[in-house]
Parts: sequence; structure tokens; C-alpha cells
Amino acid sequence: MNYGYFDDKKREYVITRPDTPAPWANYLGSPEYGALISGNAGGYSFRKSGADGRILRYVFTGLDEPGRYLYIREDEGEYWSASWKPVCKDLKEYRNICRHGLGYSVFEADYRDIHSEATYYVPAGKTHEVWALSVTNNSDKARKLTLTAFAEFTCHNNYEQDQVNLQYSRFIGRTVAEGNRIMQVLHGNLDTQSAPVDNKIVEKRFLALSGALVSSYCGDRDAFLGCGRRYGNPVGVETGDLGNEDGYNEYTCGALSCKVELAPGETKTVAFTLGLHSSEEAQEIQDLYAQPAAQVKKELEELKEEWEARLTPLQIETPDPDFNTMINTWNAYNCFMTFIWSRAASFIYCGLRNGYGYRDTVQDIQGIIHLAPSMAKEKIRFMLTAQVDNGGGLPLVKFTHNPGHEDTPDDASYVQATGHPAYRADDALWLFPTVYKYLSETGDLAFLDEDLLFANKGHATVYEHLKMAIQFSLDHLGVHEMPAGLYADWNDCLRLGKAGESTFVALQFYYALRTMEELAAYKKDDEYQAFATEHKKALEEVINKYCWDEDRFTRGFTEAGERIGERKAPEANMWLNPQSWAVISGLATKEQADSAMNLVHERLNSAYGAVLMDPPYHSHAFDGALGVIYNQGTKENAGIFSQTQGWLILAEALLGNGDRAYEYYRENSPAAQNDRVETRHLEPYCYGQFTEGPASPHFGRSHVHWLTGTASTIMVGSVEGILGMRPDLEGIRIAPSIPSDWDGLKIEKTFRGSRLHITVKNPDHAQSGCKSLTLNGKLMEGNYIPAAELKEENEIELAM
Ligand code: GLC
Repeated sequence: MNYGYFDDKKREYVITRPDTPAPWANYLGSPEYGALISGNAGGYSFRKSGADGRILRYVFTGLDEPGRYLYIREDEGEYWSASWKPVCKDLKEYRNICRHGLGYSVFEADYRDIHSEATYYVPAGKTHEVWALSVTNNSDKARKLTLTAFAEFTCHNNYEQDQVNLQYSRFIGRTVAEGNRIMQVLHGNLDTQSAPVDNKIVEKRFLALSGALVSSYCGDRDAFLGCGRRYGNPVGVETGDLGNEDGYNEYTCGALSCKVELAPGETKTVAFTLGLHSSEEAQEIQDLYAQPAAQVKKELEELKEEWEARLTPLQIETPDPDFNTMINTWNAYNCFMTFIWSRAASFIYCGLRNGYGYRDTVQDIQGIIHLAPSMAKEKIRFMLTAQVDNGGGLPLVKFTHNPGHEDTPDDASYVQATGHPAYRADDALWLFPTVYKYLSETGDLAFLDEDLLFANKGHATVYEHLKMAIQFSLDHLGVHEMPAGLYADWNDCLRLGKAGESTFVALQFYYALRTMEELAAYKKDDEYQAFATEHKKALEEVINKYCWDEDRFTRGFTEAGERIGERKAPEANMWLNPQSWAVISGLATKEQADSAMNLVHERLNSAYGAVLMDPPYHSHAFDGALGVIYNQGTKENAGIFSQTQGWLILAEALLGNGDRAYEYYRENSPAAQNDRVETRHLEPYCYGQFTEGPASPHFGRSHVHWLTGTASTIMVGSVEGILGMRPDLEGIRIAPSIPSDWDGLKIEKTFRGSRLHITVKNPDHAQSGCKSLTLNGKLMEGNYIPAAELKEENEIELAM
């Protein structure tokens, strides 16, 4: 069953049924002004931080309300909403579609011969949002309508104060009607104070109307709704008169109505704007929309251009339209959202995680390096300055991070402020694939010499920062000389401590040492190159000795020295990540790789992807196996953890197994599940954190939309793995690993300022390999193109 389709030309997802099994969200705005909106106009807005800059209230219980509601009322008395909710007219008579685009959402409704289009967006680079409403009279008689906008302002910028500290926050707000606008004023009584009182100052938000005159307003939410009523039947909307009541204490809101008359066939547009601004600034914003339709059209075009520029660097044409739509638009868009919002704001994350998780963000960066390398570089810099001078990463990097001056997990004050009590074993190791991808994508090797602060004190070049990350792992080895698991590794639910050890981290460490060998060779740093090689060899021996168990890699050691994930364990005897990472890291021999990856397919794979481990923990969990807190088949307890599917795809692709890489790709792809929404539940255009595994009665249901590391690992698995775009320091290798039934594909890629027009032909239906590669007609050696041979425009043909 589907609830909509992809309109690839417009890069929109069109929801044709508003009764989706979960709120299907879109993101508007930028870090300066962020907004989420569902396919039923539910959602919230904030300045800079979802936790500290909250403007619109949203209640996080899955009911998807309140929202940015626009009501349409006929003067004879019937009313409905421009989105299906909140009025929820009978879908047999009322038609609604929602078009989620890149940075905007449009709701089209038809009811009683009135067509409406509500367009919501945050103009590029601006700190206000626009709700434009156009109404068209499709009947043959004149119609009189009342249009109403309702915004449920929070009582405080801080989410917790608004939701929890009600004895305070409900008594600092009031509203003031100012002509065509309603102002909400917080701490208004401080207007004569010259300095903050107890850190508090006057703050103003506004809801304004342009393109028509306000006919009535309301600033008190409960007066707007009326006793015993909800958002679906507010009394003022029903009567057509909001009562002109100002808010003073309690729950203030913004509600504005206007009257429009439409001749047959006529369309009128009004624009409501909203933000956190003074009256003067609000007036300027309001004036911008004096001609609402023209201004909205112009701003939407600007937004579209901005997104087009971000996506153009990689566009593909393969035989699978689902793959094309994800790589060209939606997976890329998802990557930008995780890059921007980390885990801070969605319908699941309410903003209280007010910072960047070290590993999350360093991984998120990987998803956009091929699209927006300079944005990536800026964030890499930022994350390097969040590395402690002992080489470890700060587990939580505040949005207000102050390099050189931060406390570390070694300081009690850090632990108290962030709730992150200790170092993770893996955090800084994610820098290696990320920095390497940046260097190889751009050729900007000078970056290695850039000097950057550490989080707490001191500074070093990027190259030395990386050496410190190696040192951190060397300084935290366990009894088998493998990296200790510390507070967690990638798996937040494995607490192996200072004595326990993690195979996954050991494999990441192997990858890191391999990367450093290459960078040291480039830097002609022979001594360090030898050092990296020596440690790499020693680690290889250790991993093979202690972590290879006949046909699979184990997961590590507990603090008590027991082997995790060995064949004979009654539970969790087969884990996914050590198998895929043994391949990605380059450690696995061909025999090991074949055996381990076959076992993954046999033991862990399912119709919706491979589970994280099997069987789930229940009665044999050791002390640090926190996954047992979850129901079986869920999250870290044998759920299908979506992020890991990207590594699985990459590993199979690196092995040249295109069919299998693609099988894993399709199982987990949102677009490929567009017609199975009744099972998956989540948006078919974005990834979720996990899917319930076969051990759950809801096998196939997915959760935690949008903000997940899945976006970037699948992007990397697809671009570097399946499409085979594999840059290194000197150039690029073209090594597609595709389904054997594909006849070929086309890739348009920007690489180091050149444009590559790549045609792959696969007449013999191979899964990988290269018979010949030509660059602008010249036959190349193998499948490699040195960057120095590229022109501005390049025709590249690869025969598989
Ligand atoms: C969540 C966390 C991420 C962690 C993963 C596995 O996605 O955000 O940091 O790696 O869970 O536990």
C-alpha cells in the first residue's frame, strides 16, 4: 500500500493520502531558523536551538499536534483546514495532497469548489517563516471566506521551561495587537530594565498578515479554542470572529483572521509570517510581502536554486528509479539534514540533545563531502577542535563549543554539564575515513598542515591531530593489546570498560593505521610510516589470534575476559559489524571475507536488512551488554540497525559482489518500500534509525526518522561502493559494483573542479570489474584516472 509518490522532476514527494501511519516530516530553514512540518502541518520552529530557541510548541507523543494551522471558513458556516488535520474533513469529500519539496512544503486542498494552496517555507538565509495561502473559487458563484492562521507559541524559549516549569513560564507572556500583526511578548515587564534581571530579558515573537486586513485576532489559546474544544473545532473559527482577546498569562498564542471575497474563477493570496523579532523588524518583514504571490514565487525560486546547486555535483541515471531518486535527491537531502541538525530536532528528538555527538557528526560529514566539500571542511575543522589534547573526542560537542577552553570527560564539570561521563573508544577514530574522504575528494592536501586548537588546550596541525587520535587508542589498550571498549564503542549499548575490548574498534584502528601509513608516505614522514606499519602488523596478528572464530569475527572481550560473539555462545553469537568492518578495514583475507560475509547473509539477513546480532539478548547478557534493556528485535538488541546496512553494502561492493551489495541496498531503501508503507510506517523518502527485526511481532516497522547516521553510511555505501566512485590522494578509481542485470548506468560528477560525464556499459552482465576505461578517448591503465589528466569537461567510458 502506498500513500504517495516521488515527483522526480520537481524533486518533491507527493503525499496523496494524509492519514499516513506516522507523521511524515519535512525540514524548512537553516541552523539560524529551523522548522519542521508534517504532512498534516504539525510541527515546530526554533531559532538556532530546538531546546533553547523554541518558538512554536509541539507535543512529542506522536499525535502530531499542534501545528501551523490555516483554517478556511465559508461565511455560511462550514469550515475546514488547508491541511487535512486538524479539522479532518471526510476524505471522501475533501481532497488533500501534500508536496514536500527541498526546504518547502505545499498543501493543496479541494473542498466545496474552493481550491487552496498553503505553502510553508523559510526564505533562504532568513530568520522568519512564511505561510502563504492562496484560495481559488472554482464555483460559478461569488464566495465569501474567512481565512485564519493559528500559531501556538511556546511560553518560553527553553523547551523544558515551556513544558515543565509551568508555575513560572505561564506568567511571563502576553500578546499585543499591532494592526495587521500580533506580538507575543515574554518578560514584557522588564521593558524598563537596562540590564537582564536574573539573566532574563524582554523577548518578542510575531505572527503577521500581508495581502489582506486583519478582521479579528486572538492572543489567548484557550479563548481561541473555546471550552471543551480542540484544534479541529476552535470556536472563533466556527463563528468567523476570533473575539479580539489579548493574551495575558496562561497559554498565549497568535491567531489572525481576514475576510476575502472571490468572484467565480478568482484566486487571492495572503501571506502570514512568523518569527522571533521586534515590532520594527516584524514590520519590515510584513512589508516585504505586500504583493504576496510575487514575493513568495521569487523566494521559492531562490530556495530551489540553492538546493539545485547542492545536488548537482552528483547525479546518476541507473535502471532503478528508486535508487536514482534516493541518490539524486532524497538520500542527499537527508544527509544535509543530519549534517545540519545532527540529532537535535525531529519529531523524536526534541532538541534537548543540545550539541553534536562526536561520532555521529564526524560520520554525518561523510555524506556530503562529494556534494559540498567546503561545508564539510568547515565542520571537520570544528570537530577537530573538539578533540581533546590526549587524542580522544569529546563525546558531546556543545553547539556553543569554545575550542581551547572546554572541559573534558576527565573533568567533573564536563560530566555534570553534559551527562556524558567518559570517553568512547571509537569517537576520534571516525576522523580517519572522514578526513581521508575530504582529502581525496578535493585534493586539498594542504589541509593536513592547517593548525587547529584542541578542545581543552594546545594546538596542532590536522596531521598531528590524527596522530593524537592514534595515540589515544594506543593509550587505551586492554589485556590482549586490542583497543579497550571504554564507555561505549559505536554501539552505545556495549559498555566494555577499560578492561574489556572491542573488535569493532580494533578494526577501525586498523583502518586508521592504514590511512596513516598512506598519509605519512605522502608527508615523507618515514619514521611515522614505519611506526604505523609496525602497529598495524601487530594488531593484525592480535585480531586474527583472538577474534577469528572459525567462520566469523567475534565482537570483543568483556571486562571479565570472556569472548563476546563466539560461535558457542547461547545468545548474540553472530554480530554484523565485525564482519563488514573486517572487509572495510582491509584486514580480512579473501577466505575470511567470503566466510564471514556468507554467514551474514545466512544468519543475519532478512527481507528488511541484516540484524545487528543474533540471537537477541535475553537471559545471557553480560554486565556491559546493555542491549538487553530493549525488546527483542529492537534497536541494539537484534534490531536491523539501519546505519550498519551502509557498511554492509560498502563491504560487499568492495569485494566486487554487486548483486549482494544491491540486495542489501534495496532491502533497506525507503523509496524501494514506497508500496509497503503499511509495514514500514516511516516516510518513504528518508531513513530511520532502525527497523524491527524478525524477533519482533512488528518485523519491518521502522523508527526514529531523519536524524540517523544511516543517511551518510548508505550514501557512502552507494557512491563509493555501488557506483564505485573511489578517489584517493592522486586521482579517482572508477569501480562500480552493480547488480549483474543492469546493462549500464550514467554518472555526472564534479571532481576537483572538473566535470566527469561517466558512462558505464555492462553488456556481459558482470557484477564488477573493468575491461577498459577511456578518458576523453584515451585508454587508461586499469580503472584509474590520475587527477592531473582531467580537463574541465571529461567523457569517461568504462566497459565492465
Ligand atoms: C544511535 C547513536 C549513535 C550510535 C548508535 C548505535 O544512533 O546516535 O551514536 O552509534 O545509536 O548505538
